[in-house]
Amino acid sequence: MSSLLENLFSSVNAVPASARIPEFTEQREYLVDGKLLTWHGELNPVRSPICVRTDRGLEQKVIGSTPLLTSHESLAALDAAVRAYDLGRGAWPTMRLAERIEHVERFITRMQEQRQPVVNLLMWEIGKTQKDAEKEFDRTRDYLVETLSALKELDRNSARFVQEQGIMGQVRRVPLGVALCMGPYNYPLNETFTTLFPALLMGNTVVFKPAKFGVLLIRPLLESFRDSFPPGVINIIYGRGRETVGALMESGKVDVFAFIGTNQGASELKKMHPKPHRLKAVLGLDAKNPAIILPDADLENAVNECILGTLSFNGQRCTALKVLLVHKQILGPFLEKFTAAVSKLKPGLPWEPGVSLTPLPEPSKPAYLKGLVDDALRHGAQVINPHGGEILGSFFFPAIVSPVNEKMRLFYEEQFGPVIPIVPFEEDDEAIRYVVNSPFGQQLSLFGKDSKRIGHLIDAFANQAGRINLNTQCQRGPDTFPFSGRKDSAEGTLSVSDALRVFSIRTLVATKTTAENKALVHNILTHRDSAFLTTDYIF
Ligand code: G3H
Repeated sequence: MSSLLENLFSSVNAVPASARIPEFTEQREYLVDGKLLTWHGELNPVRSPICVRTDRGLEQKVIGSTPLLTSHESLAALDAAVRAYDLGRGAWPTMRLAERIEHVERFITRMQEQRQPVVNLLMWEIGKTQKDAEKEFDRTRDYLVETLSALKELDRNSARFVQEQGIMGQVRRVPLGVALCMGPYNYPLNETFTTLFPALLMGNTVVFKPAKFGVLLIRPLLESFRDSFPPGVINIIYGRGRETVGALMESGKVDVFAFIGTNQGASELKKMHPKPHRLKAVLGLDAKNPAIILPDADLENAVNECILGTLSFNGQRCTALKVLLVHKQILGPFLEKFTAAVSKLKPGLPWEPGVSLTPLPEPSKPAYLKGLVDDALRHGAQVINPHGGEILGSFFFPAIVSPVNEKMRLFYEEQFGPVIPIVPFEEDDEAIRYVVNSPFGQQLSLFGKDSKRIGHLIDAFANQAGRINLNTQCQRGPDTFPFSGRKDSAEGTLSVSDALRVFSIRTLVATKTTAENKALVHNILTHRDSAFLTTDYIF
């Protein structure tokens, strides 16, 4: 091991007070039917990516434990959600929108009070840098606030009547039923809340299971959930996916499945539902987003964007750039600048100032990444940067691997970590074939200046990926933009306003525009006889 990494974990005993968490948190609570229940069974240890030295060597620090519920408890949570929905007749799905909004506003206020513990747990549980952990928290709160505005706008637009071919009608969006929401470990707060809250606001009831890492950080919010919503509207369970979630799907009582993870995992769970036609899926899945760097690209910008794209949160973003296709004409200068830029990135612990490379939460990840690099080396590639691929416990120093070709796993596999495959190309058609033949279709980035060439590539890729970024890394934000994917990368589109649509269905009241019918509708409206058929709206 080089001197670069040898002291990486030594400051674990000098954590600034603001970033500290309790020495050990034994969580036994879970939320069902408006009650925090206590689990007396087996617990799952929570291992931080932060390592400590023990007699056995460097080991991931155990910072707590969470309940390993069985199918019995998860089905009880589902039943609570089913009862609260009550076939669409429950208090929550029939509640006036303004009231549902008040419940969520109450939650947002309480959530804000828990910013510090949640941010600290994001650092300790998944190794996110302090800056990015704070960003995740604030972005999530902002997302909820923006969702409330989008919902009010939707409500205003739905208040009007439409007239067509002698028929008048009013169209409104209503809930789908019981939603199961599961998020990923890389955005355990943000990505789960961007499905969970739109689902709740549209009147669905929810069972929420936190991701495999980033589990304890939901605990500071459990009481806020309990106190902000009526019993059964939101239920939070913990445990192994196969046991807990499998049972929920097999029950046939889940109406909406919101899941961020692998396409194999999503397919297996979807297949368990006895009536797949009744299950609506909202899925964010695998991706292998390429950056295509053309000979006339502004190299400085391309390098800066590719550093952000490949290595923000150590490459553990679904939108990360996971392969760089670099034109042979600029391969030399690009690699020189890119390598220099990687060398400037500071490895360290999440709370250290200026740090950008941090330890990885998945225990098997360093070995997996090493396997990918070794496979590429066997097929003729090289690691071209100093320290590339060095490992210390849970830390893996970014490896720039070049030249990568179709014989290597790195050409196809989503590494989801700090390994950067460089694929040199000569003809634009080679880049087009890479994208067209990929099983994934989330996003891509194009770097260059020639409008004719870029225009041609945009047209070649428009039917392949959900977003084409020009001279910019791939990313989900701004959150008002549609976030979608083709092929094995996604099902459905999310954004602040789209999420409200995917968790609801339009229902309309329509009638022939006769004098009697007009009078009937008029009376319903003026006497406020219906909560659905109304021209009232929220400002
Ligand atoms: O991991 C997938 C995230 O939705 C990506 O979001 O592009 O803002 O990092 P981001």
